[in-house]
Amino acid sequence: MTRIAVIPGDGIGTEVIEAARTVLDAACARHGVSLSYTEFDWSCQRHEREGAMMPADGIETLRGFDAILLGAVGWPGVPDHVSLWGLLIPIRRAFRQYVNLRPIRVFEGVQSPLRVADDVDFVVVRENNEGEYSEVGGRVNRGFPDELAVQESIFTRVGVSRIADYAFELAASRRGYVTSATKSNGIVHTLPFWDEVVAERAALHPDVRFDSEHIDALAAKFVLQPQRFDVVVGSNLFGDILSDLAAAVAGSIGIAPSGNLNPEKEFPSMFEPVHGSAPDIAGQGIANPVGAVWSAAMMLEHLGHAAAAADILRAMETTLAKPETRTRDLGGTATTTEATQALVVALG
Ligand code: NAI
Ligand code: MG
Repeated sequence: MTRIAVIPGDGIGTEVIEAARTVLDAACARHGVSLSYTEFDWSCQRHEREGAMMPADGIETLRGFDAILLGAVGWPGVPDHVSLWGLLIPIRRAFRQYVNLRPIRVFEGVQSPLRVADDVDFVVVRENNEGEYSEVGGRVNRGFPDELAVQESIFTRVGVSRIADYAFELAASRRGYVTSATKSNGIVHTLPFWDEVVAERAALHPDVRFDSEHIDALAAKFVLQPQRFDVVVGSNLFGDILSDLAAAVAGSIGIAPSGNLNPEKEFPSMFEPVHGSAPDIAGQGIANPVGAVWSAAMMLEHLGHAAAAADILRAMETTLAKPETRTRDLGGTATTTEATQALVVALG
């Protein structure tokens, strides 16, 4: 029995996770896969009640699971850095989920805001454990005119090598092309180091075409020529920004999925939609469930159930193509429940 820890979180997180479980159950039933779910109410609500996003032994509790499925955390009243550093970041780090994998596709029926966006099919590989998201630094002279804040970025040879290797191996199984995001002209210590290490790893993968682009030019190319990319690898901050931009280019943040992977499978990996808790639409039953559903499909694939995952992708292609089975953020008319039921029907 495969054991899944489910953390719906806040806002639309709870709505889209319910949808994802419905679709997962339907896909698993067809393929004889059995999953058991254990749900945790770790969230900003819990923070307001008990003063912490998760219990002190939360990481130990999760350790015994095969995977984690998460909705979104964040809610007005709890500062975003508290909800992020109180739950998501400790999980990503304790379980060495050093790959943040974010596939981007433009589906038939989903209108990209751009004129040129057919054939868009690429993956952003974001470094997920170090880089700019670091605890090293501090703030002094709080409240005085000479107040100052310092935050150090951390780039290690081990960290850069393993994310680059993941990107090159992934590209070898796709169209064989890696683009590395950098800014080594302006950031003169960490990013030249990133460039050097990525180039060393590139040399070990001569079968994969490789280039390096400054983040500003790369952002422009995401908009102007998104179809040219296959695998894009970036640091924690660059990868975060690029993947939200890419999701918008593909038509909606509501369909974008992500996996926080421990590729060695020594620890559970975590799957979550790219979007947040969307307080502006929470409770209205109109959230797009596809980002969470696609994340659940990535989870199945990671757990070795590729056929069930492929079925879910095909069902998404079917329902996204029709306005009556797409949600409003994609110009459709379906509620979350209707879009979810349509996915179940499309699974057959
Ligand atoms: P957001 O992704 O929650 O919302 C941005 C916009 O996209 C909103 O207008 C929202 O209505 C729309 N949207 C998002 N997901 C959608 C869906 N499934 N269907 C239809 N429309 C959708 O980002 P925002 O507003 O910056 O953050 C809200 C809260 O979520 C904050 O507290 C933030 O910290 C948290 N957050 C949490 C994340 C996580 O748990 N990994 C990721 C991003 C934000
Ligand atoms: Mg983001």
